[in-house]
Parts: sequence; C-alpha cells; structure tokens
Amino acid sequence: MPAIPNTSDAGKRLPRVPTAWRNAVATVLISEKNLRNRITELSKEITRDYLNADLVIVSLLRGSLFFTADLIRQIPLPMELDFLGVSSYRNGTNPGLLTITKELELNITGRDLLLIDDILDTGQTLSFVHQKLNELHPKSLKSCVLLDKPARRSHPVTSDYTGFVIPNQFVVGYGMDYKERFRNLPFIGVLRSEFFPS
Ligand code: IMP
Ligand code: MG
Repeated sequence: MPAIPNTSDAGKRLPRVPTAWRNAVATVLISEKNLRNRITELSKEITRDYLNADLVIVSLLRGSLFFTADLIRQIPLPMELDFLGVSSYRNGTNPGLLTITKELELNITGRDLLLIDDILDTGQTLSFVHQKLNELHPKSLKSCVLLDKPARRSHPVTSDYTGFVIPNQFVVGYGMDYKERFRNLPFIGVLRSEFFPS
C-alpha cells in the first residue's frame, strides 16, 4: 500500500485561498489538484482489489458526495451504488448522537461492500455504520475515507483506504460542511477562527 500523504507539512507550498472564499477560509489544506491526484491513486488501488467482486458502493450522505462521484468514475468495474444517511445532530464541530436519515435500498447480503465517507474523526460514525451493515451479512466490508484525523479518535476503527491524514483542524469543502455551509468549495480548506464560538 502506498504511503498515505500527510498534509500537515505541506502548508507552505499550497496555493492561496481563492478570492471568493477569503472571508471564510484561512488556508487551503488540500488543493483541487492534490485531491484529483490522490483520488486517482485510490481508484487504481480499489480497482486492483475488487476485480471479480460483486461490488456495492455505500456512500454516506452528505459529506462524501463529491468524493464518491470522483472516485467511482475512475473505477472501471461493474458496481452498484447506494446511499446511507447518517446524521449526528452535529450543529457545529462537536459530535452528538447518531441517527439514520436514509436507509439503504439495495440488498447487500452476500455482497462485497465498500463504504465511502468523507472524514474519519472520532470514529463514532464508522463503527456505528460497520455494525449496522454487518447485521445484514455482506460477504465483505471495507471502508474508504478521504480524510483521517487520528488525533480525535475515540472508537477503535480503521479505514482500509485513506486519502490523506490531516492534523486536528476543522475542515470544510469538497462535500464537508460547517453548519451545512461550504460544501461547495472545490478544495478543502480550514475555516477562519471567527466562525467558531470561543
Ligand atoms: P466521527 O463520527 O467523529 O468519526 O465523524 C465523522 C463525521 O463527522 C464525518 O463524516 C463528518 O461529517 C463530520 N466531521 C468530522 N470532522 C469534520 C471536519 O473537520 N469538518 C467537517 N465535518 C467533519
Ligand atoms: Mg459525514
């Protein structure tokens, strides 16, 4: 497995925040180009591992929307796609209780599941979803996350495919939100501190 890029030492070489986002975003953590390159690498790895599998992609709403779309279009294998909605009553940056907001529609029993999420933070979401999916007896279950923030992990869960390991900063963009905003940034950025309650 190739080394997982760590963004923490890359700050100085990253591009400036686009003018339209300067009021809200302090720094670009991962540029569009870096996202594209890393997602291409991940898609190659996944393609190699799932040749001849009965692949079902389970994408967690809503943060992994763009990641899922960009990743699976580079996986030239037969697959089916389903979405699972999980919400944490999060109204800011702290995790809360989890609830299912959209159930799966495909039958996944006996099939090879690849779960896709935007960011692995405390691990609460991934361990909850793993447990729920395992109850449906898939043949295999692996997960793929774009970002891993290991500093905040409180649940013993790991991801099988990881885009980038990031420092303990709250990030937005490329699907990820702060109070439902900023999902549409084409890059991943760190919010300005004024957005957070002190
Ligand atoms: P966990 O359950 O704590 O691992 O958190 C997973 C979910 O929290 C992710 O799928 C995101 O929706 C959200 N999340 C965690 N960290 C961030 C962040 O830095 N920015 C935006 N959303 C985040
Ligand atoms: Mg999420």
